[in-house]
Amino acid sequence: MTEDATPPTRPASTTPARRGWFHRAVDVVDERMGIKALTYPVPEHANNLAWSLGGVTAVAFVILLVTGIYLAQFYAPIPEDANQSVRDLVTGVWLGGFARGLHYWAAQAMFVLALLHLLRVFFHASYKKPREGNWLIGASMFLLTFLAVFTGTVLKWDQEGYEALIHNLDVAELLGGAGIWFTEEFTDRIPILLRLYNAHVVIIPGLILLLFVWHALLIKRHKISPHPEITVPEVESPEPFTAHLKRVAAFGLVLLGLLSLLGVLVPPVIGPTPVDGIEITRPPWMFWWFFPLEQWFGVASIAYVIAGVFGLIFLVPFLDRGPKRRWQERKGALAAAAVLLLALAAITVQVWIANPKGH
Ligand code: HEM
Repeated sequence: MTEDATPPTRPASTTPARRGWFHRAVDVVDERMGIKALTYPVPEHANNLAWSLGGVTAVAFVILLVTGIYLAQFYAPIPEDANQSVRDLVTGVWLGGFARGLHYWAAQAMFVLALLHLLRVFFHASYKKPREGNWLIGASMFLLTFLAVFTGTVLKWDQEGYEALIHNLDVAELLGGAGIWFTEEFTDRIPILLRLYNAHVVIIPGLILLLFVWHALLIKRHKISPHPEITVPEVESPEPFTAHLKRVAAFGLVLLGLLSLLGVLVPPVIGPTPVDGIEITRPPWMFWWFFPLEQWFGVASIAYVIAGVFGLIFLVPFLDRGPKRRWQERKGALAAAAVLLLALAAITVQVWIANPKGH
């Protein structure tokens, strides 16, 4: 049988449209690495900043990882040298001051963005069945972000960092056996500064990364929650996930620009090496909501209030269990959250006004 020289032609209507280079590149990578498994449908209502705050938080985390890796090349995590190594990094290392500024502001951004994301999820009741587990994972990442800010503050080993450590030791002592890891007695081989450094650069970011993967897998499994106010089925855009990613990337670029500007224009300060036995500084603003409690009720109250506030955050899905998701039908839950937020904000402002510089 002779072969027909003319290749078979496809009917015009079934010829696929030629895909752009980007999509073809994605297909090539996907075939080998399975990256499309990461995609999930994104409803139209999630294509805005409020519903992308989790993604922008992730961008802040990536900025922290990149700048943190750079800083770690020059930082000396031993009490005798830590403070000076930060100064040398700022004055003598190429882009050292910029990396430090960006790292500092990205930490503030991650904290604020994670909080705003939490509030968005709370406001729309996106934590309700079946997303209770993902709320717990998110709350754990928020707690870890808080711990990362704390350990980062200690690392610069100036008076502010040192006083933060002393409060940590006081609270750890109160916790007895449960707080042993946070005390100097845990091991006499390794200074606590080195162990907190270890927590700051390995344990905490490592846990956040692991939890983030779990968070993302659950988002894919449950899909983004429906908007409580939209009852009709939504029209999905042809490429919902890539459109969503592009939007997150755009927000992320704006964030990077803003943080870079802040890092250059308002660089973080570093004080002289610490003096033992005095209390003259005030901690970073993220700790102000419990800072005056020590003066009012003693150091133990700090531990109770931090545990109480984070405990409440963890318990949200179990305290507000009904199926209702519209805010109009959850006025009790929203009022309780507003009262708590206002109280913490009031203490924060009080610290700002009453302690312009230190204690
Ligand atoms: C700290 C780092 C965090 C990162 C990087 C992160 C990331 C994300 C991302 C990318 C999404 C998809 C929707 C969106 O972008 O808004 C999401 C959804 C979600 N997050 Fe987070 N998140 C974080 C913290 C939290 C916190 C603190 C909570 C709550 C305590 C939380 C609870 C949830 C829930 C329940 C969803 C599903 C929301 C829905 O389906 O509408 N996350 N997160």
